[in-house]
Amino acid sequence: MISRRSALRGAGGAAAVLAGAGLLRAVDQGLVLAGDRPGLAAWRDWDDRRYDGPLALVSAGVLAASPHNTQPWRFAVGRLGVDIFEVAGRSLGAMDPFGRERLAGLGAAIHNMALASTGLGRPAVVHLLPDAANPAHVARIELGPEGQGPAPHPLLSMIGRRHTDRGDWRGGVVSDGQLAVLRAIPLPPELRLLIFAADSPQGQRFAALTIDATAAIVADTEMMAASHTWFRHDRRDQDRHKDGLAVATSGVSPLLAFAAAMLPEQTAASEGRYWLAGMRDSALPSASAFGFISARDPYDRRSALLAGSAWQRLHLQAIALGLAAQPLNQLPEMIDRQHQLRRAAGFGRAADALLVDPAFRPTFAFRLGHGHRPAAASPRRPVSEVIGQPARLDYEVSRAAAETRAADDVLDRRRKG
Ligand SMILES: Cc1cc2nc3c(=O)[nH]c(=O)nc-3n(C[C@H](O)[C@H](O)[C@H](O)COP(=O)(O)O)c2cc1C
Repeated sequence: MISRRSALRGAGGAAAVLAGAGLLRAVDQGLVLAGDRPGLAAWRDWDDRRYDGPLALVSAGVLAASPHNTQPWRFAVGRLGVDIFEVAGRSLGAMDPFGRERLAGLGAAIHNMALASTGLGRPAVVHLLPDAANPAHVARIELGPEGQGPAPHPLLSMIGRRHTDRGDWRGGVVSDGQLAVLRAIPLPPELRLLIFAADSPQGQRFAALTIDATAAIVADTEMMAASHTWFRHDRRDQDRHKDGLAVATSGVSPLLAFAAAMLPEQTAASEGRYWLAGMRDSALPSASAFGFISARDPYDRRSALLAGSAWQRLHLQAIALGLAAQPLNQLPEMIDRQHQLRRAAGFGRAADALLVDPAFRPTFAFRLGHGHRPAAASPRRPVSEVIGQPARLDYEVSRAAAETRAADDVLDRRRKG
């Protein structure tokens, strides 16, 4: 999200990398010995298949995308499978005033977990928002008996390879064949997916609007302060929190990131300037395609969860095709912000004009293309840090009662038949 390229040009760039003080600072910023970082253990746990049964689902869930890497989740493993809970406090504040993006992050985790169930050989049923009395209980994934599930899903092996790529890409086109595969991802009726070439009139309009929306966010001190809260500047913070954004995943090359580590810690205002310059000079011009996931009602909680699942699926599919992908959500974020502040819906109207079906509104925006090198993994809180309380007792009791009733009905029918 943050490009330090312009700063580096002025700072004399990579020549300064060899300075001893710089090396220490780079170590401090978490750019050296990356493989051993505690925040990356969750990726190794998944690769090593450390967990089995329902915990394997959690191990996949924590690797999902989430806004600013906030990881707004908590999981509880129970008799029937896994419950997923929203942690509203892990929020983006003014950047996500309605929690729409937070729910999308949860939807992304749910999608990874559903895919992971195919690796266990157990059938899985996903119930979204299962408990009307507890809206934070966003999903329950019920696992069936072993040996009765579908074959491992072809995208299962992409879960550990999917990383947001914020780099300066190589340009070129996404082929028609690749586009056809991406457009064919399964989508619920609540959503639509639209992908268009970066050099099409629609693509150019998307880029211009995204620059305008970025500039509006940068000018909004409350939004920038909220975003800044999730920026982890030094290694101690990164190792302790195991979340958020950092220079190492900001998209600059490893050498430039190393050099950038020598610059003083940025303020929210300087982060904003580099981010805007990075959008205009590199992220948008080097993309091959842009797109939207749109929803009939972006603020409907179920639709927000489904939109996040759709993004996770699209990103995993893009990785399987050898493509780079990055969400670019400044436009939907500004639509929310104007809505929250009861301002004229300028961004909403402009974005609606890009969509084909007026009944659907944009809820997730992204770019696709050809990266230079695989993107870096970002930190995660491991399974042991995200396991929490099981679902409400009342909910469990009513579920058990419903199960008993169903079992009684089956017995009755058998007796009568
Ligand atoms: C709802 C949502 C919105 C996001 N918006 C952006 C965005 O506007 N720009 C960006 O660079 N990344 C965005 N991301 C990506 C997250 O920052 C990323 O998933 C997180 O930092 C974890 O990194 P990873 O995807 O590489 O595992 C978004 C992700 C989600 C789920």
